[in-house]
Amino acid sequence: MTKLEIAPSILPADFGQLGPTLQDLQAAGVDRVHWDVMDGVFVPNLTVGAPVIESCRRWSDLPFEAHLMIVDPDRHVESFVRAGCELVIIHAEATAHLHRSLGLIRSLGARAGVALNPSTPPSAIEYVMDLLDVILVMTVNPGFGGQRYLASVEPKIASLAALRDLTNPTTRIEVDGGVAPDTLAGVVENGGEIVVSGSALFAHPGGLRAGVEAFHAIAE
Ligand code: DX5
Ligand code: ZN
Repeated sequence: MTKLEIAPSILPADFGQLGPTLQDLQAAGVDRVHWDVMDGVFVPNLTVGAPVIESCRRWSDLPFEAHLMIVDPDRHVESFVRAGCELVIIHAEATAHLHRSLGLIRSLGARAGVALNPSTPPSAIEYVMDLLDVILVMTVNPGFGGQRYLASVEPKIASLAALRDLTNPTTRIEVDGGVAPDTLAGVVENGGEIVVSGSALFAHPGGLRAGVEAFHAIAE
């Protein structure tokens, strides 16, 4: 098992203090920053766009990933790459031409990821595995932080890890939604290698670094 990577969701942060928060996250030892981009159409909420991410780029050396919970993502992919996201994750359910959309991300020099909502089967990405650097397995219905982890999705994590082993061993399995100390073991046991955590990490009683250390202790 490769060392667990932690990608905090920026959603619980004070959006008026994003710069200092990014510095705190870097000091706490996280591996990357997960920007939850919501358009109020694909999901009910509306959050940040590329200009905000671009203005935050100088505050941290951490890799930025954009989780685009937006319809027709092709319209905006380039702006997130230019804003400094080295990984762009789009929803399989948000584009009619997933193969072409993933190719667009890669043509811009970024790594390409696909997110699957809880009800979307692994077969949805069977024919694009060669284009995938990351599969983001949603363990909540997207649109909000602080939701309950859906343990029913765990068999899908294992299925996707098996599909990856068969088709593209370079693809990483990332899990997003309700990941916390009490749900992390199930994620890791089923093949999750990178975890997104928002509420559990930011609300950890010992602070961000203690939260990061607690996640690593559980995953070992
Ligand atoms: C939900 C987002 C997740 C979420 C994670 O639509 O994609 O990244 O904010 O937050 P927690 O860890 O609180 O579920
Ligand atoms: Zn997310």
